[in-house]
Amino acid sequence: MAHKISLINMKGGVGKSTLAVNLAWHFSAYTSWLKKVLVIDLDPQFNASQYLLGPDKYLKHVVTKEKPTVYHVFERYSPEFKGIDLDKAIKNITENQSGGKIDLLPAQLELAYTLKNPSDKARNLKEFIDTVESEYDVIIIDCSPTDSMLTEAAYLCTDHVLIPVRPEYLSSIGLPLLYRSILDFKEKYKKHPIEIAGVVFNATDDYSPEENKSKKNVKEVCKNLDIKIFKKEISFSRSYPKGARENAPIFRTSYARYDRSQEFLNFTEEFAKEVGIS
Ligand SMILES: Nc1ncnc2c1ncn2[C@@H]1O[C@H](COP(=O)(O)OP(=O)(O)O)[C@@H](O)[C@H]1O
Ligand SMILES: [Mg+2]
Repeated sequence: MAHKISLINMKGGVGKSTLAVNLAWHFSAYTSWLKKVLVIDLDPQFNASQYLLGPDKYLKHVVTKEKPTVYHVFERYSPEFKGIDLDKAIKNITENQSGGKIDLLPAQLELAYTLKNPSDKARNLKEFIDTVESEYDVIIIDCSPTDSMLTEAAYLCTDHVLIPVRPEYLSSIGLPLLYRSILDFKEKYKKHPIEIAGVVFNATDDYSPEENKSKKNVKEVCKNLDIKIFKKEISFSRSYPKGARENAPIFRTSYARYDRSQEFLNFTEEFAKEVGIS
């Protein structure tokens, strides 16, 4: 059984895609893990797909070659795609000689159409993952910031939820909403093992009074909801957007500061321990 992790926050721009992709790189490339990782892009804005493939390869793969994406996974029983072969839906991104690898199930804009007509489609992702899960050690799902059929589809395939939070104004507003959404899900699927692994502060800078205020606020909310906050934080660094442009994790981004990449590694270690990835 693979460890299945979803990155969720009902807020956009908090670092879900950045962390999803960097975690995938760490688990696949660092000798402490060397895991076989599948990244599932569950956001119609397909940032994780672009981050991993780069815009040119993304266009070639999805638009020119018309390879199936997660959109087709959801639409596989609709008349338009009935009988579609999903064997080519997973694209290899990197393979390490020592055994680790990253594969990607990309997203595309059309996923937004699925959201317009979502009935009975949430289970299609799980059905697909069940057929490939044995090939992976870790499956990382990058979610979109709205509570929709896609969120339920992600929950169905999730053991642990990781919640990135930026310590800025209104940072805690989505937390009770997300907590409620998971409770509702657990009410519907009573034996489902989904758990919140915790909140990670992302893009911190430790200087602004506003940051301290928001952190305090998030800590209070987490205490009330009994949500763990990871000790290791991820600082603000321009190397993250730069890495996205270079299709590189923080530890391979050109001129990225060593202490910044060390920080992400430290967080990955804490997270891995929390969710039992060894
Ligand atoms: N620690 C960080 N430091 C600086 N910029 C970051 C950091 N984490 C994410 N970003 C940038 O913030 C923007 C939003 O991040 P992203 O991962 O796309 O968020 P989300 O997936 O939650 O919408 C991106 O431009 C990304 O490069
Ligand atoms: Mg995103």
